[in-house]
Amino acid sequence: MGEILGIGLTHYPGLIAPDEDRAFPLTRLLRSDSIPTELKNPANWPEAMRVEYGEDEGISASRAHRERLLASFRVQRAELDAFNPDFVLIWGDDQYENFKEDIIPPFCILAYDEMNCTPMMGKDGSARNNVWGEPADKVFHYQGHPAAKQLVTKLIEQGIDMPYAYKPLHEKGGLGHAIINTLLYLDYDRKGFDYPVIPFLVNCYGSKVIRNRGGAVEYGKEDDPPGPSPKRCMEVGAAVVRALKDSPWRVALIASSSWSHAFLTDKHDKLWPDQESDRARFEEFQAGDYDAWRRVTTPQIEAAGQQEMLNWMCLAGAMEELDRKPEILDYIETYVFNSEKCMAIFKP
Ligand SMILES: [Fe+2]
Repeated sequence: MGEILGIGLTHYPGLIAPDEDRAFPLTRLLRSDSIPTELKNPANWPEAMRVEYGEDEGISASRAHRERLLASFRVQRAELDAFNPDFVLIWGDDQYENFKEDIIPPFCILAYDEMNCTPMMGKDGSARNNVWGEPADKVFHYQGHPAAKQLVTKLIEQGIDMPYAYKPLHEKGGLGHAIINTLLYLDYDRKGFDYPVIPFLVNCYGSKVIRNRGGAVEYGKEDDPPGPSPKRCMEVGAAVVRALKDSPWRVALIASSSWSHAFLTDKHDKLWPDQESDRARFEEFQAGDYDAWRRVTTPQIEAAGQQEMLNWMCLAGAMEELDRKPEILDYIETYVFNSEKCMAIFKP
């Protein structure tokens, strides 16, 4: 009989660079030509956004934002260690990283033997400025787990035609940002992360995956086809639980993503996320009203910039199957730091 621990967290890339670097998407956006000129002036922002940005262009708020996130990551890591899983399965978006024009699967289980990543290496080969002071060539090694192949089989047996891969396609460095950032943050204090990892990629970006190459800029005129619906993600999550329940393994199921993203929220000129929609989803989530999440449509998700929440929909389907409600560690609303973050845990 398998045991399952559920974790929901963020892979917000802004935690890698020191706060002083102001490496949040808003900084880039304010320097670009892609927003109306009047919105470059904080005087034209919502009051709460001006306050958060403060007198130091968001540096103090960024420090406070980090502290809150680290507090939750540390609780989650302690729970993970106490649970001592045989492996962790991470639902994360592939943001035009491993999958590009040659194929976009709705989901993909990466059944790799091992993963060797150099996340501190910048595009030019030099080290990214990072809070740990780690060099460009520092290799982060993770072990895969044979359960990955068996999970694919068990999903196919349940009518879920699950794509899988034994080696990287375009993401030669190993793992895309959603998976590697999660692993870096769950080991923020760098004591090592020895649990085997099964990445479970989700096509969250749907109509924008190739058109926007996973970012804010539109490279094409036409939308790409949609990603999987919230309902389908929940069905897949539930099927994962049914597959694992009869297994001999202790498994941590982790959904990795922030909720609404500013750069995907067109109605706010990509400047700040959709707090209203996130709050609605949060109230439903907190109450364990998974049916409400199942009814969310793809157009609703896209209008709210909540594409990456599809990772959480997989987890929600899994937790519904286990009849579990979340314990909320934190819920962080923000205007300045691109995306809103929910940090949660579902204890066995
Ligand atoms: Fe992401």
